[in-house]
This record gives sequence, C-alpha cells and structure tokens, in this order.
Amino acid sequence: MSDTQPIAAATNEARKGDVVAPTKEKGWFYTDTVKDHFFHPKNFLEDEADYKDAYMGMVGSPACGDAMKVWLKIEDNKIKDFKWKTFGCASAIASTSMLSVMVTENGGMPVEEALKLRPQDIMARLGGLPARKVHCSVLGDKALRSAVNDYYRKSGQIEKIEVEAGRIIDKVLKITDHDIEEAVLEGADTLEKVQQRTKVGTGDPSCIPEVEQLIRFYKEKYFGA
Ligand code: FES
Repeated sequence: MSDTQPIAAATNEARKGDVVAPTKEKGWFYTDTVKDHFFHPKNFLEDEADYKDAYMGMVGSPACGDAMKVWLKIEDNKIKDFKWKTFGCASAIASTSMLSVMVTENGGMPVEEALKLRPQDIMARLGGLPARKVHCSVLGDKALRSAVNDYYRKSGQIEKIEVEAGRIIDKVLKITDHDIEEAVLEGADTLEKVQQRTKVGTGDPSCIPEVEQLIRFYKEKYFGA
C-alpha cells in the first residue's frame, strides 16, 4: 500500500498539518511509516520486572483518558534504552515507537537534546499525522519528560527538574494555560472554538488577549501554524 492510500477517511476537509491524499484532498490518512510503527511497534515493554530499576514516567491525557508509561536507561547522560506502554490509539503507538527509535539511535541521545525534541520532529520522521491526532503524539513526549525528571531526582540533579504547573488565565472560572493547551490539542484553533470547549473569558473578558496569544503559541508549538 502506498503513502497516498487511505486506511481511514473522515468527512472533514484537511487542516494544516494533515497528511493529505492528493486525489481526495481529505486530511485523514496514515503514512506507510505510521502504519509500520503501529503494526510493528519498536521498544514496546513486554515485562515490567526487567525495568524495575529504570527511570519511569507516566502521563494521562485529559483529551481521551489514555495513559502512557515510559522507562529509560541512561548512561553517561545518554538515553541507552527507551521502553513504553500505552492504552493510547494507533497514532500514540506509532509516534511513541518513533520517539523511542529517535532517542536511542546512534548510541543514544543526550538527555538535554531529547528534551528539545518537538512534536513536529516526530511528525517529520513519521511523514505526518492527521492534525486531529497530534495530541496523541504528545503523550510519549510528556511521559519522556516525566521519566527524565525521575532520572534527575534519583541522580541528584534536582535543579534541572521541570514540573509543569498550570497558570490561571481566567480568574473567574479558574481556567489554566493547560486547559487552553488541551483545547488546542483537541483541535480548537480559534478563540471561538476554545471558548466552546472551555468557556474561557466568558466570566473574565480581560483575559481574552492573553488567551488569543496562548492559542497562537500552542498552534505554532504543535501544528507549526
Ligand atoms: S491517544 Fe487518545 S485518541 Fe490517540
């Protein structure tokens, strides 16, 4: 099957970042690379007992209730082994499988370099993902960050630990930047759509300029738009 042949098609038109089949101009197609990593995942963890001493990170996605666990073995500050398990969908499996290859190839990526990887870097190696599935690819990346924090904690590099703390944007409804990030990852790409999901700014309109700035920031971060 070639990259342009669909295994799934949606009725929606393509969005920026989608992999588009030229003949159909629709945006819901998986590349051969995505399919390969989904059907033959690399570095999937079979037995947790072998990795009880590895550095471990876990995240859950509020978008779909899925969870991702990552185990790392690190030597000389390089990632020598990256194993993972998830309840996530095909896109989460394919993108985490690719991430595991990227950080362990060529003798292992230095930890700080791995932290600089962006969702678009994984996307580029996969040949793209439907834009609506980008939030799935973020699961592996967030679990990697959580496992690296475990490494920093256990190796005494406490000053390097980065914990994502939500910042309140809408003081009336107590809506944080993470709520807006999740809305953008779920496909809300305008203020109106983010408001439909979160109601942000309806109780405190003074925060709307900041919300618009955050929407631009997260669109650029995850979709390069
Ligand atoms: S991981 Fe939940 S929809 Fe992809």
